[in-house]
Amino acid sequence: MTPFDLPNNFILGTATASVQIEGSDTNNSWYRWSRQPGRTADGTDCTIADDHWNRVDEDIDLMTQLHVNGYRMSIEWSRIEPEPGHFDSGAMAHYRDEIEKLIAAGIHPMVTLHHFSNPLWLEDAGAWLNPAVIRQFARYAAHVYTHLGDLVTDWITINEPSVYLTFGHVWGDWPPGDQNILNYFKGARHMIGAHIAAYGNIHELASGQGRPTPRVAAAHHLRVFEPAGGKIVERWICRAFERLFHNVFAEGMATGRLLWPIGCGTPFGQGDFQDYVGINYYTRDMIVFNPGKPLQLFGDTLVKPGAPVNDLGWEIYPEGLFELSQRFYRRFKKPVVITENGTPDRSDAFRTRYIYDHLYQVRKLLDAGVDVRGYYHWSLMDNFEWAEGLGARFGLIEVDYTTQARRIRRSGEFYAEICRNHGVTEAIMEEHLNPIVA
Ligand code: NOJ
Repeated sequence: MTPFDLPNNFILGTATASVQIEGSDTNNSWYRWSRQPGRTADGTDCTIADDHWNRVDEDIDLMTQLHVNGYRMSIEWSRIEPEPGHFDSGAMAHYRDEIEKLIAAGIHPMVTLHHFSNPLWLEDAGAWLNPAVIRQFARYAAHVYTHLGDLVTDWITINEPSVYLTFGHVWGDWPPGDQNILNYFKGARHMIGAHIAAYGNIHELASGQGRPTPRVAAAHHLRVFEPAGGKIVERWICRAFERLFHNVFAEGMATGRLLWPIGCGTPFGQGDFQDYVGINYYTRDMIVFNPGKPLQLFGDTLVKPGAPVNDLGWEIYPEGLFELSQRFYRRFKKPVVITENGTPDRSDAFRTRYIYDHLYQVRKLLDAGVDVRGYYHWSLMDNFEWAEGLGARFGLIEVDYTTQARRIRRSGEFYAEICRNHGVTEAIMEEHLNPIVA
């Protein structure tokens, strides 16, 4: 391990999402879903989560203690538009206030418009399977941009469309609990259409109002898919995964071109609909095909035997961040922002090393000429991890859910030092990494 630095204007931030931290919103799909028996691994729900809605000042103060210069947060659609076409000015004022406080603290805001949760009215009308969502999402995006676009330049339209559709419409573990691959395709078309419409609205409003040019993109969940053995069929399966899980969204949202099997042509227009490439990176999947189970078309997904894993059993594979970022940079020739990267580590045993190893890959990307602009660690603090509930601990800050007390973890102190020094110095290594290696 060696010290390394990062550019001075590089964003080193943290990321969260509304339902995962805010609490006290009863009007969204995850509130209703997570309170039904058996929906989360540990029986917890998102009713209170981190109570961030009432603790904005305290949490921004913690961000300043972490020395981050960026924060990715999401706006909760169900708060902003509690009924179709009715916008809540109080909720908007709350977010505006939060963003003003971030800016005053020297923290650059990045705002996500859709992060897995839907207003109940949208959910009950079919959400992303109903073509009306394209117009509705574009209207909501325009409303938010109109009210916050003087403060926020960096926007994420939709977070991890492939994950939302896989869990909600293929596995059925997330709302709406559907299991129909054709709905994955349908939802994908609508998400692409909605992204393009929102992208257009935001840019049009910006130029009309003489505002600084916004940077708008989706945040894609990218994984490394690798054939476990030498079988050619495993390579085909990996390609199928790459297409269905990555490329249909990355290509469709960037250019408007629909790829088979989700569609064809450019029904939402053709153009350049992303200003950067947003990448959420966590892990690698090894794909195994068992000839004894030929009907299992997509094979089995395994962790490489002997590889390090996190608390949820995901392989820790830092090199994947390099591979995927470089590949997507070459394909789209747009700046890359690592919009998420992190690990559940309840006892904080390996997060420090994880951060070092992944930021080291960022350094390598910069050295290889990839224009990486920022890294947002997932997550600022422990939070509601969807179907895993509150049990998966992704935070740089530990949260005691009975008292809501926050405590910066040792790995959080390490990240704070990196943010403060814009890199890993000898002294930081001495203090934080050597004891671990020894
Ligand atoms: C990606 C998602 O955007 C986020 O909501 C989730 O908590 C993290 N991955 C960790 O699974």
